[in-house]
Amino acid sequence: MRLSRAVFILMIVLGSACTDIGDPALMEAELEVPSGPLSFEAHIKPILLDAGCLGCHFAGGGSGGLDASTPEGLKRGGASGRAAVVECDHRRSYMWERVRWCEMPFPGFPNCLDDLDVAIIARWIDQGGRETYVEGLCPDAPLD
Ligand code: HEC
Repeated sequence: MRLSRAVFILMIVLGSACTDIGDPALMEAELEVPSGPLSFEAHIKPILLDAGCLGCHFAGGGSGGLDASTPEGLKRGGASGRAAVVECDHRRSYMWERVRWCEMPFPGFPNCLDDLDVAIIARWIDQGGRETYVEGLCPDAPLD
């Protein structure tokens, strides 16, 4: 009897730990994601610098063969052969996937990106993921 109660409680605890499966990009309204066009320099680079990404993924191909210091490097991607940024599509972008599930920054670096930063990255990618916004590049670019 006691054992089954313990199992029951464990299931509730584990269950609630797994409820955060929402895509922050879809909950933008609750987060204060800046409206209008985003740029790499003003919005994305500070996040990557803050999280330490550029300390490992520097120009010329850092860890995992990835240069995260420019939009071109992110588009090119690293050793996996996957583009870290797929223009207009954050869900197919490896960078978004890795930060969304806190697989990056590299394990051992405790600073997971918060939901707001993950949503800003998603929005920038959905706007095209370029240095600056290019009108007409993404048909469904979120702007407001
Ligand atoms: C301490 C060093 C370190 C930090 C900090 C770090 N990474 Fe990484 N990253 C790695 C290593 C090592 C790999 C290769 C192993 C792997 O894929 O897990 C990698 C792989 C990646 C890849 C996959 C590259 C490919 O195509 O194989 C992406 C995307 C990535 N990192 C993004 C990020 C982002 C975004 C941040 C910041 C939020 C970040 N990383 C922070 C070390 C780091």
